[in-house]
Amino acid sequence: RRRRKKPVRVYMDGCFDMMHYGHCNALRQARMLGDQLVVGVISDEEIKVNKGPPVTSLRDRMLMVGAVKWVDEVIPDAPYAITEEFMNKLFTKYDIDYVIHGDDPCVLPDGRDAYALAKKAGRYKQIKRTEGVSSTDIVGRMLLCVRERSLGGRHSPSSLQRQFSRGHNQKLDDLGFRTPTRISHFLPTSRRIVQFSNGKGPGPDARIVYIDGAFDLFHAGHVEALELDHSAAIPTVCSSVMGANPREILRLARELGDFLLVGIHTDETIRFLKLLKLLSYLAIQGAHRPIMNLHERSLSVLACRYVDEVIIGAPWEVSKDMITTFNISLVVHGTIAENMNFRKEETDPYAIPMAMGIYKQLTSPLDITTSTIIRRIVSNHEAY
Ligand code: CTP
Repeated sequence: RRRRKKPVRVYMDGCFDMMHYGHCNALRQARMLGDQLVVGVISDEEIKVNKGPPVTSLRDRMLMVGAVKWVDEVIPDAPYAITEEFMNKLFTKYDIDYVIHGDDPCVLPDGRDAYALAKKAGRYKQIKRTEGVSSTDIVGRMLLCVRERSLGGRHSPSSLQRQFSRGHNQKLDDLGFRTPTRISHFLPTSRRIVQFSNGKGPGPDARIVYIDGAFDLFHAGHVEALELDHSAAIPTVCSSVMGANPREILRLARELGDFLLVGIHTDETIRFLKLLKLLSYLAIQGAHRPIMNLHERSLSVLACRYVDEVIIGAPWEVSKDMITTFNISLVVHGTIAENMNFRKEETDPYAIPMAMGIYKQLTSPLDITTSTIIRRIVSNHEAY
């Protein structure tokens, strides 16, 4: 009798700070090299020593990694370098076959390769790093949204960005270093979208839930915190439509049906909304948003395990036509959405599903407080 083959278990570690679709793509590729993917999220202390303090806490970083659909298990407090002791633990306790990392060099402060031992043991495999996105680049884009004045003069966006790229063995100029990145370098291809999508439509009797939003950044709290802390005079204008934590809302929305369809608003819709809402000086800031473009936002949402399909460029108003075309049973929205404060003369985008009796407001969970992201970046910077 043939023995059932043991599933191949692969391990990928990382900081996953300010998680982006490059991280998701790394996790996707890692999962393709085995049957089960275990992810070790590096502890705050280890990141601090090796790269400088992280912006998001271990708890939040674990939540975000765990929401990615290619991840099977998440381990907290992983070490930055694979030590002999940890490697043995991976092989025995976690039954890992291979350690995976991107093809960017990962050097320790003393110049050693963090994966040297795994390589020597013949247990190392490599994936291709995703071009065009990095945490450094995202910080640069975020800083563009903050007036330099609000950073107190001592911190130029480029010096903050430089701080954030510590520990990265990359040519700094390629990252748009001196002039913070304005434009996304992401090249959306049809293949990448196919790689990220589930490729399955809803079943014949599926209850289809629809939710729309900007979904700018994996964690909308980033941007929200950015505005709130810097000047009480600046209203919260740039949180994504989702308000609190998009992942959590997506989970709640998915629980209401069998198939979750997510409408991602276009860059133009988002910019237009900002312009509508803001006074003129804020309108200038609005021009920098969204931080992630439509395609980047679509990939991030597609990587989420609760999402079945996305509409890449959803209309602002949920029309009768859309409801029929996509056979939508329920339209949901979070409570904290900034765009819900309509003035009388503006139309409510959910008027039609409301009239049809298929609209439901979800209470956005507020427990995730990535409070004061920018303040953290600034104070981290002061540590050097
Ligand atoms: N990764 C990737 N593509 C990117 C960024 C990261 O493939 N654009 C991979 C890394 O190679 C690593 C994994 O994602 O295998 C976890 O990443 P992390 O430790 O967070 O990597 P960083 O290199 O610090 O990511 P970033 O530059 O965005 O901060």
